[in-house]
Amino acid sequence: MAGERILVVDDEEMIRDLCAHILGDEGYGVTVMPNGEAALAELGRTPTDLLITDIKMPGMDGLELFERVKKMNPDMVTIFITGHGTLDTAIESLMRGVEGFVLKPFTQEELVNAVDRAVTRSRLQKENIRLKALIPLFEISKLLVTEIDLAHLFRIISEVLVKEFSVERVSLMLVDDATGSLLIRASHGLPTDLAVKARRGPGEGVSGIVMKHRRPVIITKGKSSDPEVMATLNRDNEPLSSMAVPLIGKDKVLGVLNISKFTDPTFTTSDLQIVSVLASQVVATMENASLYEGLRESYFRTVQALVAAVEAKDPYTRWHSTNVAKYAVAIARDLGFSPSQLEEIHIAAILHDVGKIGISERIISKPDRLSREEFDIMKDHPAHGMRILEPIGFSQLIISAIYQHHERYDGKGYPQGIAGENIALAARILTVADTIDAMVSERPYRGTISSETVLRELERESGLQFDPAVSGAARKLIEKGLLKLGMHAYAQHAPAADTK
Ligand SMILES: [Fe+2]
Repeated sequence: MAGERILVVDDEEMIRDLCAHILGDEGYGVTVMPNGEAALAELGRTPTDLLITDIKMPGMDGLELFERVKKMNPDMVTIFITGHGTLDTAIESLMRGVEGFVLKPFTQEELVNAVDRAVTRSRLQKENIRLKALIPLFEISKLLVTEIDLAHLFRIISEVLVKEFSVERVSLMLVDDATGSLLIRASHGLPTDLAVKARRGPGEGVSGIVMKHRRPVIITKGKSSDPEVMATLNRDNEPLSSMAVPLIGKDKVLGVLNISKFTDPTFTTSDLQIVSVLASQVVATMENASLYEGLRESYFRTVQALVAAVEAKDPYTRWHSTNVAKYAVAIARDLGFSPSQLEEIHIAAILHDVGKIGISERIISKPDRLSREEFDIMKDHPAHGMRILEPIGFSQLIISAIYQHHERYDGKGYPQGIAGENIALAARILTVADTIDAMVSERPYRGTISSETVLRELERESGLQFDPAVSGAARKLIEKGLLKLGMHAYAQHAPAADTK
């Protein structure tokens, strides 16, 4: 996996040695430098894939080094090492395009994970660039390398094959990880019952033989040059011409692409070559898709760690995002959101206050009401949140829900002061969920609140702060007992001084 060259820059010898030791063991080539100037000189001499730098250093600090390196080599992947005191800088660095950061003190695992993530991301970027440059073969190729929704991808493939080769039947079989058999995951022109039932183990039928031997097969008028294939053919019902091409991933067969036609002309070896290129694009796309999923997952974890950092600043909000997610998902489900939209709203709710990481702890955990100036600063948190999350590639639903979660239905909210349906529905849901939890939580200046008071408030603010459809759904869910207000969460996790 490893092999990349890494330059570690830190003024503390102990940290340099530690990084060199840990990353050297992982197979990376590691060089260490004690300051920014020495690092720049080294980068001028030696090709380097990844820069890991401390932020706080005497002389040139990590940010300045990062900016200067970016001018020399815009593709350099950089990770910051940072202490708690420089967390705000770390956020800023994320916005400027740093690939990751490691919080001091770090464990071996945290360092290795951050480096692996950064390296994987840079490889993926390079791979995508390579693919895009390599395949002007079909107009379709651009779509394929960026396409990550596999079901949609299969539809595109079928359409291309039907159009380009006048085929009547297409089936895309993928290896089922649980059984090792091929199952049809997408098909065109096959009777539905056949598509659902078809299952081929290695060596079984034409697809199974192609999977086992990892080589493509052409069958013309019931004949093939491969005796094993010949033996398995059912001559009564054979199409005029068919092809089966293996989808070979990095280290295993992922599936088989089958196409067949009942009219002339029959398939030629040059058709086979073109379909093989198409098959390799399918493989690249599938691997990118699964890599992309993994990357999203790891970024989400990074951002969740950031949320935990925000919540650590203020113990009263420790369970806030979890509760808001619970309320928001229940309301969104009631309003008919699809499962994938529910997942997005869950993510948006968990991360809705991530922008608070850019706000001073003094303001966030202030027990009294905020002064006008302090409130103005606090009002920047939706925009901070958007800036942190946008480069990570979250969906528009998530970004706008977070950016607009303090807008009001009557237009008197912030940051934009937009009203009614100009506010994204997901944001209107977050507003209600966020306010419910703010009411329920025992903020020092509020005291506990009963569910009757929550219901009254939802009704009173309907059409003012809240979208009537959303607050109405919330009221209905609370009244029916389908949405439990999470007061207990606060009782259990109250600050130490409040417990026995
Ligand atoms: Fe907020």
